[in-house]
Amino acid sequence: MDYSELGRLANEARKNSYCIYSNFSVGAALLTKAGKVYNGCNIENASYPAGICAERTAFCKAVSEGERDFKAIAIAGGPVGEAPDDAYPCGICRQFMNEFTDGNEFDVIIVHKDLDYSVYKLSELLPYSFGPDHLNK
Ligand code: THU
Repeated sequence: MDYSELGRLANEARKNSYCIYSNFSVGAALLTKAGKVYNGCNIENASYPAGICAERTAFCKAVSEGERDFKAIAIAGGPVGEAPDDAYPCGICRQFMNEFTDGNEFDVIIVHKDLDYSVYKLSELLPYSFGPDHLNK
């Protein structure tokens, strides 16, 4: 699975986004080290803080299926009906990803308008992170 395909899957995952409040649809495609992909989308709620981002949806699906080893996540987000436009993960999602990955190894792929993409290490997006090691876990 190359990152261009992962980005395409992330953009496709936007179609199931439930975003009637923001009209900003986000899709994520989470790649395990074994090569399996879990998709996610943002799911909003009338009680706004109860909504969840696409990235955490994907991680919750994967972790709840027993997955623990992740290689990369692609993220595509933008106004509904428009091309994705450099949607970076929110702070809560960065922290959530950090729990299950080695930030120096885990790749975060940001999908651009033309479906080209940029690759970052999670540690670039979440430097000086707090994680399981701090609690000896
Ligand atoms: N959103 C995500 O799904 N991922 C992010 O990392 C940033 C924001 C969603 C949450 C909300 O449904 C919408 O985008 C607007 O904030």
